[in-house]
Amino acid sequence: MEENEQSARGLHFVGKKDELIEAKRSFRTIEDRDILIIYHQGVFYAMDSYCYHAGGMLNNGDIEEINGKLCIICPKHKYKLTLAKGECLYKGTNPKEKPPVPRWYSKGVKQRTHTVTENNGEIYVKLSDDPDWIESDYYQGEKGKIERAKAEASEKETS
Ligand code: FES
Repeated sequence: MEENEQSARGLHFVGKKDELIEAKRSFRTIEDRDILIIYHQGVFYAMDSYCYHAGGMLNNGDIEEINGKLCIICPKHKYKLTLAKGECLYKGTNPKEKPPVPRWYSKGVKQRTHTVTENNGEIYVKLSDDPDWIESDYYQGEKGKIERAKAEASEKETS
């Protein structure tokens, strides 16, 4: 694929496949957006790198399968975000149920995910063009940097 053709299609070269596999987690900034590329069990994923909840760095999060979905667990407060869609999963009980049985529920898509493609051993990311506000947008860009610092400071105060 020609370089011009790639950029016209919104594809950003992020690295050689072998290198990204070796790294497993790679941080990249694309069009002012900080994203995390994850290689897990033979599949590449890409998502906003700061957790929607309070800007936690997802790159150090463990990956676990929850309710049949692979999730990254934010190291900060352990929120569980699906790798494929950025849905936040939580365990809850329905008090009307007798006896209440804990089940996994989804809060919906909270973390913006992006598309990863491969061409000739090279990996490309196309940023999500979903026009709707997704909560992880909050911690992106210049304003996001300030908000992340604030979240960090208030955490220190309360701990
Ligand atoms: S910042 Fe990720 S769970 Fe709170």
